[in-house]
Amino acid sequence: MTSSHTADAPAGVPQDLWLAARRAQMNAYVPYSSFPVGAALRAASGTIYAGANVENASFGLTRCAEQSAVQALATAGERAFTELVVVSSAVEPATPCGACRQVLFEFAPEARVYLVNTAGAVRETTVAALLPAGFRL
Ligand code: THU
Repeated sequence: MTSSHTADAPAGVPQDLWLAARRAQMNAYVPYSSFPVGAALRAASGTIYAGANVENASFGLTRCAEQSAVQALATAGERAFTELVVVSSAVEPATPCGACRQVLFEFAPEARVYLVNTAGAVRETTVAALLPAGFRL
């Protein structure tokens, strides 16, 4: 965790969220895809919650990093977040899958989203832009 490669957020990306997401990415359990992803959310309280993807031999049981982070947030009793950083090592920063977009939408349609890769590329968006007309009960 001491290398500068890990420590420095790309310009414009919140440093604390980036660091939490990178740390989570390093804990990703990805024996099947070798595609580690880390996500970190800033809850409405200011607390940061992180998640990593956790795969399973029964592939459909794989949990994405974004959903892991939302589970941590909700389990702690939080019900909203303002910002999300998703880190992958892909050439183009990974974008949340369709299921994750709906999970994010449940708690924070207006949240700012930073999609980044470990080379420093950044794509900035919002949950609502990623999921227009998300489902609500
Ligand atoms: N994955 C995530 O965790 N988040 C994303 O935004 C994209 C995909 C995971 C699921 C699986 O473990 C691996 O990346 C390859 O699809």
